[in-house]
Amino acid sequence: MTKSTSLLITYCKLSDLPEIIKIDDFFDDQTDKIYKSNKKQSLLNAIKNQKIIVARCNGKITGYLWFEFLWSYIPFISLIRVKKSYQRTGTGKKLFVFFEKKMIKMKYDRILSSTEEANEISIKFHKSLGFKKCGYFKLSKWIPNKELFYEKTLDN
Ligand SMILES: CC(C)(COP(=O)(O)OP(=O)(O)OC[C@H]1O[C@@H](n2cnc3c(N)ncnc32)[C@H](O)[C@@H]1OP(=O)(O)O)[C@@H](O)C(=O)NCCC(=O)NCCS
Repeated sequence: MTKSTSLLITYCKLSDLPEIIKIDDFFDDQTDKIYKSNKKQSLLNAIKNQKIIVARCNGKITGYLWFEFLWSYIPFISLIRVKKSYQRTGTGKKLFVFFEKKMIKMKYDRILSSTEEANEISIKFHKSLGFKKCGYFKLSKWIPNKELFYEKTLDN
């Protein structure tokens, strides 16, 4: 049995916050102080507003997808992260499919996402889900250096 067969995808609960923070700390290479100090409160707000979806395997959180709405009407994936030991087991895809189904049900016609240009795995992941590159931006004094944007149109 692969790790993904016992996966459960749900909205995140407040009690999941410590596990989300643990995953977040593992990946986090951001140096921005404001970003860091606001992170916990932002996560808390997102959980309360049902903007975080989690993957659970044998009761443990193995990944999460954090979304918001650009200009209040375009679904945008702010972050998707899967624990290292669970990567490439279909977890990221299942998180996305759960989210995509919700957005289709709510009649949204596209999903946006973004990734650093240097993140080759993430780019492959996005392409495998049907995303197409739709632009990029570079901000001054900001990490990452170049952020690529991806769009997936939804059939309603
Ligand atoms: C990107 C990420 C979320 C993918 O999650 P995942 O659970 O490992 O991905 P899945 O197992 O669902 O893979 C789905 C498809 O994406 C592609 N893919 C995923 N990881 C890949 C890799 N390491 N190399 C090549 N293709 C890959 C494949 O096409 C894969 O399908 P396949 O396994 O049938 O070939 C995960 O690697 C991760 O958490 N990375 C660190 C954080 C990050 O960079 N997030 C994205 C930017 S916010």
